[in-house]
Amino acid sequence: MHCVTNIHEDLYWLGGSDRQLAKFENVFPIPRGVSYNAYLVLDEKTVLLDTVDKAVGERFFENLEFALAGRPLDYVVVNHMEPDHCATLGELLRRWPGAQVVANAKTVPMVSQFFDCDISNRAVVVKEGDTLCTGRHTFTFLMAPMVHWPEVMVTYDAADKVLFSADAFGTFGALNGNIFADQVDFERDWLDDARRYYTNIVGKYGAQVQSLLKRAAGMEIQMICPLHGPIWRENLEWFLEKYQRWSTYTPEDRGVAIFCGSIYGHTENAAEILAARLAERGVKNIALYDVSHTDVSYLVSEAFRCSHLVLASATYNGEIYTPMENFLRDLACHGLRGRSVALIENGTWAARSGMLMTKLLEEMKEMRVMEGTVTLKSSVKEAQRRGLESLADAIADELLH
Ligand code: FEO
Repeated sequence: MHCVTNIHEDLYWLGGSDRQLAKFENVFPIPRGVSYNAYLVLDEKTVLLDTVDKAVGERFFENLEFALAGRPLDYVVVNHMEPDHCATLGELLRRWPGAQVVANAKTVPMVSQFFDCDISNRAVVVKEGDTLCTGRHTFTFLMAPMVHWPEVMVTYDAADKVLFSADAFGTFGALNGNIFADQVDFERDWLDDARRYYTNIVGKYGAQVQSLLKRAAGMEIQMICPLHGPIWRENLEWFLEKYQRWSTYTPEDRGVAIFCGSIYGHTENAAEILAARLAERGVKNIALYDVSHTDVSYLVSEAFRCSHLVLASATYNGEIYTPMENFLRDLACHGLRGRSVALIENGTWAARSGMLMTKLLEEMKEMRVMEGTVTLKSSVKEAQRRGLESLADAIADELLH
């Protein structure tokens, strides 16, 4: 049965949520599920903006047929060709052979790459600034390469001042009836997943997100319709400010996140002593993660959030403890920069993790390794206890003054 929601005037949401998928892109855990949003405008011409993942394909087609109510589908706009949105595009093109495909020059060959179909005779190829008038609405297409794939574009509807933003402004999390961000406590219940989505999906492409934000600043936008998560029609500036921070790698919080990679608990003991001493000095909201237990996507998100990071790692096979090395390389891949980092290393016979972590951090941009790396030889002794006190002094001094 259909589940179509009217958003505004002649604009409809006909997406769906997947609460069964364990890992988005087969890598990111999504315990709260994920939504795939598609939008339909019933103007003089009918316009579908994006399709959906195959997981919700059946419901999507029911929704679309119900919403069209026998009218033909005139246009399908393909803002993003990734299969979480386009897995159902091939079937859509078969079911509506008269629909024209509005896409840019990078998207058109991707359609043939994913499907055994040639859309050259039904493609309306658009480039930056091109428009499509469908009656009351005039859609403008803006290229947004690498937010998150090279063919990504966003679509602006000047009539109702709606930005169809593709992956931008999306979030993990299934929609539970409330499809608008102002119908949920977004800061309490959604922000962490929005940050984790942004940092892991497009975190690497801050410059490209900045380019999109600069163009968006010149437009009057009353509603943002992303491909994942709630629709924004109130307090847009609050979410735009988050994107401004994330895309410039500016910490959201002046705070500390401690990440420990510990084999038998001694390195974790050092991390916990440091956390306790920081708390004594007045540092609040300290985060502490075991990198072997918390999925790396959460760790990356927390590193984007905090101004100060502590990496506490055992030495393993003469290298950085594997989960910590994986985390650090993931941070480098996502382009994180501009953080202050304190180090704790451990090695029973040859502690090398501190030196090796420093080397990786030096390959990243504007990462400042704080003085006073604490070296454990197996476990915390009096010398290391004093070292952790000094590190707590230095971090607290920076955070509180
Ligand atoms: Fe939601 Fe880049 O796909």
